[in-house]
Amino acid sequence: MNKLLSTLFALSVACATGLAQAQTPAASAPAAQAPAAAAPAAGTPEAAAASAKRPAPAGAKSIEAKAAMCIGCHGIVGYQASFPEVYKVPKISGQSAKYIAAALNAYKTGDRKHPTMRGIAESLTDQDITDIAAWYESHGAGKQVADKPSKEPNAQVTALLQKAACASCHGANFAKPIDPSYPKIAGQHADYLFVALKAYKTENNPAVGRNNGVMGAIAKQYSNAELKALANYMAGLDSELTIKPEPRFR
Ligand code: HEC
Ligand code: HEC
Repeated sequence: MNKLLSTLFALSVACATGLAQAQTPAASAPAAQAPAAAAPAAGTPEAAAASAKRPAPAGAKSIEAKAAMCIGCHGIVGYQASFPEVYKVPKISGQSAKYIAAALNAYKTGDRKHPTMRGIAESLTDQDITDIAAWYESHGAGKQVADKPSKEPNAQVTALLQKAACASCHGANFAKPIDPSYPKIAGQHADYLFVALKAYKTENNPAVGRNNGVMGAIAKQYSNAELKALANYMAGLDSELTIKPEPRFR
């Protein structure tokens, strides 16, 4: 219980910090401020306690209650994380459910070390993970990009893509992975893709890094400048990934 409380506390601090960042650009665009101001309340201990007290139908928590903690970060357009550097939190709406579940389980086991996401994943049951993953996948329903990439890579990026045959796993347009437990990466935020790729190279750091046999061996073949060029190219492609801003649940 103490652990849960401190996780929630850390989250509300993270949300408050993020809100301050999210509001800077909003000053010139007041319309963008409304959802940003409304959503983080969902991550507060008060909100969590309130939803815990609400009588749950048939003893089960609704999907809205389960995802309430996620939208304060993943449901805000432009929301930035600040660890291990400043970057936009990944888009997960429209991502495949099997990959979302695999990623959450990797945070849970510690194969992915990002401390905030570890704390969150540890608080989820297997059933929560299944339900939340299906819900986020459903946000992309119907959206399918063409097989042909919307933008041709330049000569440098073409060579980098060929070197590790990225499309042989991530699929046509990097949006149709050959296995649903592999991520769609086309149109993901460039700064997040760069942080993720570097994480596969990072070893012996308790708070940063991802242990993954496949991507570890691949990322290590590239310099950071090359990983950045790959990230920038993939981020500019048509995407099945989106951010679904949540107005309010109750
Ligand atoms: C405090 C902000 C915050 C909250 C709240 C949060 N996340 Fe995250 N999430 C992040 C950040 C930052 C990352 C990137 C971590 C990394 O670099 O590995 C991330 C990564 C992820 C990923 C991996 C995405 C990918 O492309 O590999 C998934 C899946 C995810 N979060 C799901 C969730 C779910 C489900 C919830 C709610 C139960 C949630 N997150 C709550 C900030 C947050
Ligand atoms: C042999 C199959 C394979 C190949 C080839 C491959 N990947 Fe991956 N990639 C994966 C798998 C599996 C994952 C999920 C790993 C995990 O769970 O963290 C992944 C994850 C990623 C991620 C993290 C996405 C996210 O949302 O966090 C990025 C970025 C990525 N790959 C880019 C690339 C690039 C760029 C190349 C070529 C240089 C490449 N991949 C080649 C299988 C592959």
